Amino acid sequence: MRKDDSSALRSDESARLLEKEKIFCSYGDTVHYALHPKIFERCEGSYLYDDRGAKYLDLQMWYSTVNLGYAHPKINAALHAQIDRLPQLACQYLHREKIELAEKLCESVQRGFGLKGRVHFNVGGAQAIEDALKVVRMTTKRQRMLAFQGGYHGRTLAASAITSSYRYREPFGEFADRAHFLPFPYTFRAGYGGDPQRTEDACIAEFEKLFEHECTGAWNSKTGHSEFGAFFVEAVQGTGGYNVPPKGYFKRLAAICRERGILFVDDEVQMGFYRTGKMWAMEHFDVQPDIIVFGKSLTNGLNPISGIWAREELINPRVFGPGSTHSTYASNPLGTATGLAVMRVFEGEDYEAKVMEKGRYFLGGLKSLQSKHAQIGNVDGLGLALRMEMCETDGKTPNRQLADRMFQIGLDGGLDLGSGTVGLVLNIGGYYKNVITIVPSLEITHKEIDQGLHALDMIVSIATRA
Ligand SMILES: Cc1ncc(COP(=O)(O)O)c(C=O)c1O
Repeated sequence: MRKDDSSALRSDESARLLEKEKIFCSYGDTVHYALHPKIFERCEGSYLYDDRGAKYLDLQMWYSTVNLGYAHPKINAALHAQIDRLPQLACQYLHREKIELAEKLCESVQRGFGLKGRVHFNVGGAQAIEDALKVVRMTTKRQRMLAFQGGYHGRTLAASAITSSYRYREPFGEFADRAHFLPFPYTFRAGYGGDPQRTEDACIAEFEKLFEHECTGAWNSKTGHSEFGAFFVEAVQGTGGYNVPPKGYFKRLAAICRERGILFVDDEVQMGFYRTGKMWAMEHFDVQPDIIVFGKSLTNGLNPISGIWAREELINPRVFGPGSTHSTYASNPLGTATGLAVMRVFEGEDYEAKVMEKGRYFLGGLKSLQSKHAQIGNVDGLGLALRMEMCETDGKTPNRQLADRMFQIGLDGGLDLGSGTVGLVLNIGGYYKNVITIVPSLEITHKEIDQGLHALDMIVSIATRA
């Protein structure tokens, strides 16, 4: 059973703070997507705790920013040690952790893709996207980009221009360099009876159409060159609803890009760092990117660091010289130290095997829930990047209200599973905002997965009765 009155689950202190928030905080961020915003007090492992000590299993981990779990002892220890030794340093000077972190990232790209390159750090994901755009513009001298419908690359102005949702751009006027958006192979909704091969073929055909004749406005039939500088892709769409593409799709897409002189930019901000079972999600698809963008989980949610890796020919000092781009907090030592600790944790264990096994286990449980609840239209996933698409009882028509209700019931907490009472921290994504994107800690235990599945089952039952 669950208590229905969410105000009963709030302490007086939370209520006081929420009253202040109403007065002093902007509502321009995403806090008020929730009907009853929640104040959390503490975090550990897979759980968040409110100020009454009630626990909430987090199945979204700060949008895949805390892949190794909250308050990871080794990563926290690295941060403490850095605070005691070299907590601050302007980015114009060098420090050991920056160099060693760049080395580890370059080595991971060499292992994953067999490519040599360099790393350039920044602070947030969208800033790193902007740096990638600069490298593309500098290299190709072109400012038009290709990107996907359902793609998300951040909210700064240039990142918004290659993010498909017009909702994010409309209030801010003209975007002269808005990308050209192509359909992503979203098999469940592509209209080919859920057949991945036909979906892949159709999406590739759509891309090829751009180069069918010279009047498509996309290329010069004499030089063979495209007007587009780069294609910005996510291997698995994150905010777009954890859509996993058909296996052969990216290889064919990248071949067309190469033929037309279009750079292939792999945005790993959300799917990188073993979220899908590989260090870089694009490693699943046998493609060699020109640029990789990373952020979020590099520091496991501690001091932010983002960045780009680019092939040597695109970023060597002759073409990308001193001062090409800069931000005050880029490569801050607290961030590089935690990033280095994260990379060392990954080196200490076979995360690929671990994440793939847990992902299969979780997905198996989601499939059982799907067979029980007609409103779960689709479940899928790669590693621990999982999706559950909420629909009407026909299993197809998107049901956003149902996903919203589930989100709020989880956040209200107080779900009595028999073995204890929990809340569930969920996230909603997808083209129709009806997909529960399931993004647990990579360290989640099988017992916690079972608890999450039990809670999800309960939440779907409550939400569909409402
Ligand atoms: C794939 C992807 N790229 C870029 C970004 C932007 O990162 P940030 O929010 O740190 O600016 C995000 C954020 O969710 C993302 O998921």
